[in-house]
Amino acid sequence: MINFKKITDETYWIGGSDRRLSRFENIFPLEHGVSYNSYVIEDEKTALFDTADISISDQFLENLKGVLGDKKLDYLVINHMEPDHCSQIATVVALYPDVTLVGNAKTFTFLSQFFPELNDQNKVTVCEGDKLELGKHTLTFVMAPMVHWPEAMFTFDETTGTLFSADAFGTFGAIDAGIFADEYDFEKTFLDEARRYYANIVGKYGMQVQAVLKKAAGLDIKMLCPLHGPVWRENIGWFIDKYQKWSTYTPEDDDILVIYGSLYGHTESAAQKAAALIREKSGKKVCVYDVSQTHASYLTSEVWRCGKIVLFCPTYNNGIYIPMEDFLSDCVALTVQNRTFALAQNGTWAPASGKLMTEKLQCLKNVTIVDPVLTIKSALHETDEQELLAFVNAVVEA
Ligand code: FEO
Repeated sequence: MINFKKITDETYWIGGSDRRLSRFENIFPLEHGVSYNSYVIEDEKTALFDTADISISDQFLENLKGVLGDKKLDYLVINHMEPDHCSQIATVVALYPDVTLVGNAKTFTFLSQFFPELNDQNKVTVCEGDKLELGKHTLTFVMAPMVHWPEAMFTFDETTGTLFSADAFGTFGAIDAGIFADEYDFEKTFLDEARRYYANIVGKYGMQVQAVLKKAAGLDIKMLCPLHGPVWRENIGWFIDKYQKWSTYTPEDDDILVIYGSLYGHTESAAQKAAALIREKSGKKVCVYDVSQTHASYLTSEVWRCGKIVLFCPTYNNGIYIPMEDFLSDCVALTVQNRTFALAQNGTWAPASGKLMTEKLQCLKNVTIVDPVLTIKSALHETDEQELLAFVNAVVEA
């Protein structure tokens, strides 16, 4: 059934949501699905902005044909060549063989890798600031390299102030009946998932996000159209401010994270005791996670939100407990910065995880490691109270 929505003058959302996919990129758990957005401007010339994932191809193609009716498609603007948005390019070309593909030089390198059969298709190669006239609508192209692929670009419709922003400003989560962010309680419904999407998909590229935010600041943006999640037409500055914080690795609030790994419960018990004392002495909200039970994408998202992180970790095979090591590897891969870590190690005969976690975290920029590292031998006991209090006080004061 055709299900597109007009979002502003001659501009339509023609995407859809996948609520069946269990893991985005076969990595990140999806509890509430994900949307794949695609847009059309109908002017003297018609333009399609990105296609969609193969999982919603039927809906996408119905919507495209529904919007265009008897009209031909003049341009397919490719803002991003990742398959969750480009999978339908060859199908669109088969339906509209005269369509001209619009992208930058990198776009077309990737196009020929994914779709060598389209090498002879009509193409227009654009660079920073180039314009394309559709009639009433004038499009300007803004390069957004490494947000989060090298060919990524934004397209700005100067006529309506609509920014087609590729993956930037996207979020996990299916779109329900509403298409606009202001039709939801965004903070309640989407913010945690938007942060998890940012941290895990774009988080490594803070510098590149900063560069494109500076370019966006020069545009009179009235509508923000990402490739995932709702469209923004109100309170856009609030969401851009979140991107400012996230891309400068600035904590959003002063909640404290306690993340523990535990084989048999002894390290867990120590972490819970410390968390309660930290809560009591700091007066701040303390969020506790079991590293074995929580997917690392949620933990890294929480690291983006909070400035102070306390890790309780057993020693395992003379190394770091494996789920904690995986989580720390994610922090390193995503280039976490500007955070304070406090470390507690457990070991029955040769505790080593504190030293090893320190070495891993020292790869990160502007990371402070609280002194002292707390050492637990098998389990925390009443006799360890002084050491525990010294650790807790150091965490609170750090
Ligand atoms: Fe939603 Fe980078 O693709």
